[in-house]
Amino acid sequence: MNVYDSRRMADALAAAGFQPTEDAREADCIILNTCHIREKAAEKVYSELGRVRALQAARRKEGKDTVVAVAGCVAQAEGEEMVRRAPVVDLVVGPQAYHHLPALVAQAEAARATPRGRAGIVATDFPPESKFDHLPEETTPAGVSAFLTVQEGCDKFCTFCVVPYTRGAEYSRPAADVLAEARRLVTAGAKEITLLGQNVNAYHGEGAAGSEWGFGRLIRELAEIDGLARIRYTTSHPRDMDDDLIAAHGEVEALMPYLHLPVQAGSDRILRAMNRKHTADDYRRIIDKLRAARPDLAMASDFIVGFPGETDADFEDTMRLVRDVTYAQAYSFKYSARPGTPASTAEEQVPEEAKTQRLAALQALLAEQQAGFNARFLGRTVPVLFDRPGRQPGQLAGRSPWQHAVHATAPADWLNRIVEITVANTGPRGLSSDTREAA
Ligand code: 5AD
Ligand code: SF4
Repeated sequence: MNVYDSRRMADALAAAGFQPTEDAREADCIILNTCHIREKAAEKVYSELGRVRALQAARRKEGKDTVVAVAGCVAQAEGEEMVRRAPVVDLVVGPQAYHHLPALVAQAEAARATPRGRAGIVATDFPPESKFDHLPEETTPAGVSAFLTVQEGCDKFCTFCVVPYTRGAEYSRPAADVLAEARRLVTAGAKEITLLGQNVNAYHGEGAAGSEWGFGRLIRELAEIDGLARIRYTTSHPRDMDDDLIAAHGEVEALMPYLHLPVQAGSDRILRAMNRKHTADDYRRIIDKLRAARPDLAMASDFIVGFPGETDADFEDTMRLVRDVTYAQAYSFKYSARPGTPASTAEEQVPEEAKTQRLAALQALLAEQQAGFNARFLGRTVPVLFDRPGRQPGQLAGRSPWQHAVHATAPADWLNRIVEITVANTGPRGLSSDTREAA
């Protein structure tokens, strides 16, 4: 979502005469777009700001001024604290206020030109209006595989998670806006669109004639767009996996057979403490239904190990769930206490050593499953959307429908096209058309 947001910030600032540069030394305005989900996110931002300050000083010697802004969820969470601790920061702007960027940057430039020489603006209130209604139409290229935010924020309040606090309440964009943006992306060359939201399948936007559309309906309507070959979405919650969406996985050809459906843990006791509002068996049943609808569906998930109170037996339940489901791909993390979340103050924090051991065991199992999943594709012909140069000259890289990374020896004009290749090699991380090269 930060990739999408960065593009929309560029769109907003393009309307004010800015254009993106690859070279930070050329920038009149530097925006750090930040993520607060895990680990020492704020510390990383403060250390990066040290580098930005040096850059600002170097430009000053050339007589050039630089506005420094911090955006994203670290900005939202830190607020005033950020301008106090890092005086280099002129502007702290939260994710829901990006449509105000042109005005905020102009205000910062004006303040920097005064004798005080710094701005210290904090824009972290949740505005009553939606930024989507006020951002200009996209002008920054999104590429052949584009992101499109359809939903933002979260009302679920899992006890480990900062999202409900930093991104705010759940909001769904009206379907007409989503469809119009998707059509513009396709006209501009997109063949694949990944629908984004912190809780994307909780989508319930305004549909036609005052009705409300669920996520399945939205996908079916998007699939009607000529030239849109692939639809994906991320990330979803088991509770919002309704029958219509499950059926869409079997019925909508453009909906790719890969689903990221985070479960976090396999122990019902831990799931309850996480406030996930489902059991491990509820999750197993959803997967069964999904696979009945789409037998070749590749499953992906997120896991947290070492949530407060997690015992060895709880962790074994997670391992059992992983064995039952068999994942094509997964992300797994040590629990990291996020300030302000309920779990962060729980008494029974799990020792670091146990977290490390559990993570290693889980990741070994997941890596084995991923390699096994990939190996099944050896010798098969798969359609690949090539969207980037490969590792070697003469190579391109792209994605299979099942979201494998695919490397292939390919003519340059395959870029931005969907082309069938035969898999000659598979590895833990992907597929390759080249027998000599480990994928
Ligand atoms: N600690 C560790 N992992 C977390 N995630 C979210 N919050 C935390 C946390 N406090 C993980 C979850 C989520 C993913 C985006 O990040 O697994 O699905
Ligand atoms: Fe965070 Fe996802 Fe839970 Fe919402 S559903 S609180 S975004 S983990």
